[in-house]
Amino acid sequence: MSEFAAITGWGKCVPPAILTNEQISSVVDTSDEWIRTRSGIRERRVSHVPCSDLATVAAQRAMAAADIGPEEIDLLILATCTPDTVIPSTAAHVQRKIAAVNAAVFDLNAGCSGFVYSLSVATAMIRSGSYKKALVIGSERVTWFINWSFRDSAVLFGDGAGAVVLEPSDKESGLLFSHLGCEGDAADALQVPEFGTSGNRFADNYGVLDIQFDGREIFRRAVKGMAKETRIVLGELGLVNDDIDLIIPHQANRRIIESLAKYLSVDMSKVVMNIQMYGNTSSATIPVALTEALEGGRVRAGDRILLAAFGAGLTRAAGLLRWGKRTTPLSESDAELPPCDQTALEILGEAIKHTL
Ligand code: ACO
Repeated sequence: MSEFAAITGWGKCVPPAILTNEQISSVVDTSDEWIRTRSGIRERRVSHVPCSDLATVAAQRAMAAADIGPEEIDLLILATCTPDTVIPSTAAHVQRKIAAVNAAVFDLNAGCSGFVYSLSVATAMIRSGSYKKALVIGSERVTWFINWSFRDSAVLFGDGAGAVVLEPSDKESGLLFSHLGCEGDAADALQVPEFGTSGNRFADNYGVLDIQFDGREIFRRAVKGMAKETRIVLGELGLVNDDIDLIIPHQANRRIIESLAKYLSVDMSKVVMNIQMYGNTSSATIPVALTEALEGGRVRAGDRILLAAFGAGLTRAAGLLRWGKRTTPLSESDAELPPCDQTALEILGEAIKHTL
């Protein structure tokens, strides 16, 4: 048994092709001004490789930051709702690509809450004493699912991956407490309706893999859901809002983030926000933002960091991280994605042609 599961490594991987609001406006009936004011997004990344490749590079960077080798990893959880394949799990592809030959591996799909869900599961597994070194990855290629004739969803999403390494610790660190929930009565509010065994795969129109959502309904439930989980987490730990040093929320919409900060009476200077650069990368938003907060010197030893997320399900999650001593990586990885010689619009060319 171990008392705590500290985060000892972190890394991110964002694909190089940038899609700006102006570029989207050249193919979809929208504008930079609408997207910026309604969501806070200025640009997003479009991946030229599948989810497992993004996850692989983020994982290699996180392992380097923790200075551990892949054979030391005994648990790998991949949060994703945009898998390379359903069978096998995408985690199995990542295991092979990073050569984590001793790891138990599985995918966890909790939509955009997937990283907090996965961190919660991995923390419990390390605390139980059964596992010693865990990789928790959030990786998504959401742009693959976009229907470019749905302008409400088309402008919001991007691709990317982030990862952390967890190790046992006797010092108060890592995820101290988390609480997870789901509002299954609203499961249809965000869906890719034809990606599974509920449809007739022989029907002529089967296989339309579009993200569809009810933005207003999600918006309303997101703020309430994250606030509810946060209240539970702080209450359980005997903390008050003022005890929070930093908030790393899921990045779905700047207005949702601002509403949460307002509800918690926390100044926006304590909130990590990078939605302007990446849009909503689903389960990757929080580990990418955490990595950037560390790289930018925003995380200090001993900080109490609130994670809060919501996503397809509709899942909701919050957790309180206590940061350990080290805020710098132990070493760096030279892992890189395969080169990309296309622009974002070129990568998306066929999808735009077929869905517009
Ligand atoms: N460009 C221009 N106009 C648009 C666009 C667009 N891209 N999208 C919608 N509009 C129009 C609508 O048609 C509507 O026009 P109308 O008034 O003539 O009917 C008008 O803008 C306002 O539409 P609303 O839906 O009310 O806009 P809202 O301010 O609610 O913003 C948004 C929409 C950005 C989708 C918001 O509701 C939102 O962020 N929702 C939650 C986030 C979300 O759903 N994230 C995705 C998944 S959640 C997760 O992370 C898993």
